[in-house]
Amino acid sequence: MIKFVDVIYGLSWGDEGKGKIANALAEKYDYVCRWNGGPNAGHTVYLNDKKYKTHMIPSGIFKGKKCIIGPGCVVNVKKFFEEIEYLKASGFDTSLVKVSPNAHIITEEHIQFDVNNLKKGLGTTGQGIAPCYADKMLRKGIRAKDLFPSEYLWDGKLEGKVLCEGAQSVWLDIDHGCYPFVTSSTTMPYGACSLGFSPQKIRRLIGVAKIYDTKSGVDPLFPESLWDDETLNKIITIGEEFGSTTGRKRMVNWLNVDKLMESIKISGCTDLVINKCDILQAVGTFKLKFENKLVEFSSLYEMQRFLDDVIRDNTDIVNIQFSGHKENVATPEMAQ
Ligand code: IMP
Repeated sequence: MIKFVDVIYGLSWGDEGKGKIANALAEKYDYVCRWNGGPNAGHTVYLNDKKYKTHMIPSGIFKGKKCIIGPGCVVNVKKFFEEIEYLKASGFDTSLVKVSPNAHIITEEHIQFDVNNLKKGLGTTGQGIAPCYADKMLRKGIRAKDLFPSEYLWDGKLEGKVLCEGAQSVWLDIDHGCYPFVTSSTTMPYGACSLGFSPQKIRRLIGVAKIYDTKSGVDPLFPESLWDDETLNKIITIGEEFGSTTGRKRMVNWLNVDKLMESIKISGCTDLVINKCDILQAVGTFKLKFENKLVEFSSLYEMQRFLDDVIRDNTDIVNIQFSGHKENVATPEMAQ
């Protein structure tokens, strides 16, 4: 029987550092599951000063947890097995990784269509995501059960404490994001129920944001003129804001607090983690956008106090935690 489910997900435009938070919390759970997306995601985790990157396999693998790739995910088989080999060679137990028989397979044709028709205009990652989901909806897709070896196929069971790890984020959601500059899956945490449990099982909704906003790829909220700002460029360099799947330089903007509170509300966030505060500290400029005005603070502490007050006053959030880039900030109240 499932005891409870906690969901970690992005509140912004992806790249919030969800992988790090999931890795810090994974110890306390029996399963770590992905419910959406595919190799468009990139999760970076630091363990004993070593950097690990995964695109498909949940970060629970680093803590020896059962890792599930759910029916709502799309899988590139070649990349999946490359990732398995990379993790095996690094000493992790890859027999814990299982793929839902109903997950859809990304083909070479999907990738070619994406690269030739979508990558430039929409700024996709070129991984074949949209064409694969399109074939799924047309009901002509190929599924994991059609070609995966049986030892990798999931039996559909979940037990005990379950952590679900979102890919991308609220503003990239197919229904809630700035369409068409979105991804093709449900990134909203309710999408986690596609793994096969009732919404009543969800205990906590752990939303992750950064103390500044970033976007990989095209979006009207991130105009080209942002490249001209010297301080924002410093954030890119110090914050290593380069796509972990594409290597592209991300667009950076000051945190839009109104957008953040909107995503907290529509997704039902109970626990908020605001990440990468140490990057702003290193840059030494503390600004955010609130009610369409740019507000500047004299210190990080002052900015954090403002955020804590305004978010608590305007949302139903229960817990707010500020975190840094590389150190693993476990959030003790969250995982018990
Ligand atoms: P697609 O998911 O490759 O179709 O890309 C659609 C949009 O989502 C593009 O703007 C991508 O940059 C963005 N995107 C997809 N995956 C990620 C991610 O993991 N982090 C940040 N942006 C992403």
